[in-house]
Amino acid sequence: MLQGKKILLGITGSIAAYKAATLTRLLVKQGAEVKIVMTPLAKEFITPVTLATLSKNTVISDFFSHDDGAWNSHVELGLWADVFLVAPCTANTIAKMAHGICDNLLLTSYLSVRCPVIIAPAMDLDMFQHPATIKNLQILTEFGTTILQPESGELASGLEGKGRMLDPEKIMSELIALFHSHKDFQKKKSL
Ligand SMILES: Cc1cc2nc3c(=O)[nH]c(=O)nc-3n(C[C@H](O)[C@H](O)[C@H](O)COP(=O)(O)O)c2cc1C
Repeated sequence: MLQGKKILLGITGSIAAYKAATLTRLLVKQGAEVKIVMTPLAKEFITPVTLATLSKNTVISDFFSHDDGAWNSHVELGLWADVFLVAPCTANTIAKMAHGICDNLLLTSYLSVRCPVIIAPAMDLDMFQHPATIKNLQILTEFGTTILQPESGELASGLEGKGRMLDPEKIMSELIALFHSHKDFQKKKSL
């Protein structure tokens, strides 16, 4: 149901990053083409090798290679994507997205994309309830970002509350529904 859709999947430094492997597999199974951009911190939680294997594409994270100067183009990625999905999305990355900070390749890509943006926040309940996070999510909503609200339940910290990233199956269902129902998902933003 996602046949031929070009999905730029952003992964950030959350304990929920391991779920990105299942999400990638599900998206590829649905016929989507998946390219992955990770924050440097995300690589501490899940390896690029796992994600490159599942997505069938090289995973990118760095602006350039120190060895040979080869560089990754956030502009090309931005033009390529039909949708930019950041899952999991940390409080840190939410804050930076809300304020236009672009000090890594994921954030620079975010400012470059012309397609709809969806984020699946994942964090501890106190981080999620903090006025700063609430405000930053409001800003992103005003920018037109779709927020996939986290669920309540047991969190990795051992606390109970809202902050658990939506399960990969639910994220995929939401994505399919948005592609079918929302006009912004049916065409790219014009130049
Ligand atoms: C074990 C561990 C788990 C973490 N899980 C989360 C999380 O689920 N959500 C979150 O917002 N931050 C989490 N953090 C903190 C982020 O890794 C930290 O804010 C980092 O700067 C995020 O960077 P990034 O947004 O560039 O990936 C966690 C940190 C550790 C050490």
